[in-house]
Amino acid sequence: MNHHGVAALHRQADRVLPRIFRDYVNGGSHSERTVRANRLAFDRWAVVPKCLVDVSDCDLSASFLGSFHWLPFMLAPLGFGGLMCPDGELRAARVAASAGLPMAVSTFAIQSLETLSRVPGVTLAAQIYIFRDRGITRDMLRRAEECGIRTIILTVDTPITPLRLRDARNGFRNLTRPSLRHLLSMATHPRWTAGMLRNGMPKIGNLAPYGMGNTLMEQARNAASQIDPTLTWKDLEWLRSVWPGHLAVKGIMDAGDALACQKAGAQTVIISNHGGRQMDPAPSSLSVLPDIAEALKGETEIILDGGVRWGGDAVTALALGAQAVGIGRPWAWALAAGGEKGVNSLVSGLGDEIRDVLRLGGMVDLASLWSQGRAMLRPVS
Ligand SMILES: Cc1cc2nc3c(=O)[nH]c(=O)nc-3n(C[C@H](O)[C@H](O)[C@H](O)COP(=O)(O)O)c2cc1C
Repeated sequence: MNHHGVAALHRQADRVLPRIFRDYVNGGSHSERTVRANRLAFDRWAVVPKCLVDVSDCDLSASFLGSFHWLPFMLAPLGFGGLMCPDGELRAARVAASAGLPMAVSTFAIQSLETLSRVPGVTLAAQIYIFRDRGITRDMLRRAEECGIRTIILTVDTPITPLRLRDARNGFRNLTRPSLRHLLSMATHPRWTAGMLRNGMPKIGNLAPYGMGNTLMEQARNAASQIDPTLTWKDLEWLRSVWPGHLAVKGIMDAGDALACQKAGAQTVIISNHGGRQMDPAPSSLSVLPDIAEALKGETEIILDGGVRWGGDAVTALALGAQAVGIGRPWAWALAAGGEKGVNSLVSGLGDEIRDVLRLGGMVDLASLWSQGRAMLRPVS
């Protein structure tokens, strides 16, 4: 599958997915201003071309989340990613393994950590929430460790789930079985429906050990109500004390909060507004990156997600202080559009674009990018 940019994968996914899932992926909370802000923030920066440098080779390898990777981005955790096409997460994990980038597995993954960790050569990070029942959280840590996973991503920006208008209109999370409207929408999207139903009705395989319901929607509702809104920094200290491996905290948008993560012993801060699905209006994730990078003084790793769609976006975030970026919706679109081939085209396309931007900027690796940093950018007036 040739790469024609993320927008082409998005258009194709919109055609393939029944409305309830298309809206679930594309949507944000409240006004969806934050979803738009994440994209617009990248338009404010340009990369200055530099010439007469030997750029015949360009190496994108980088270490982040506790291991070495061939590309400076990760597949961000997406709940229900496996609904985009049959065995969706498994296909994404195979691409991540062969391309040499890490995949973060959502608590709400259709395929379990156990299934995904059997993909040869894959590097996974397990995304967790601290549940009201700490026994479940501890068990997820145990499972991650038994699967050979060395990195946990604790998501902290979801103490509540705000109104997401598109989901509310579709009854997403309130339905226990599909309505007539949804059945019609499935009938008019036969490629998706035939593919998914061949494997039977999907469930959240990653939560299967905890008996949270008989259907996917029941599981989703019960698990969402397990997310503990009483969490404080003490609970992060608790997690730090029970998880000896690499710890990343996801959903940080404030320099003071980033410093508190550093103090609690997290090795990575993931700057994210959950792709505009939580606080609305929140600042774009890119706009808070410089302040957070200054506060952390290079002592704690930074990953940024939200609106990264082009190689140039990734380069901009790296120049402003991130070690890597996370890609969210694009890998869901890629799965819906073309399964494993779609994700392969996304990942190789983004890698090629990053290489193009680096070389035209006179750089041959990420070390040269970081040594120039902000100096290689100009604000767009
Ligand atoms: C459909 C969807 C499901 C998501 N599920 C999760 C999740 O289960 N856990 C989590 O930490 N973040 C979740 N996120 C947030 C993403 O990890 C990431 O922060 C966001 O998608 C990045 O923005 P982007 O989609 O513009 O790339 C989800 C995002 C989307 C779009």
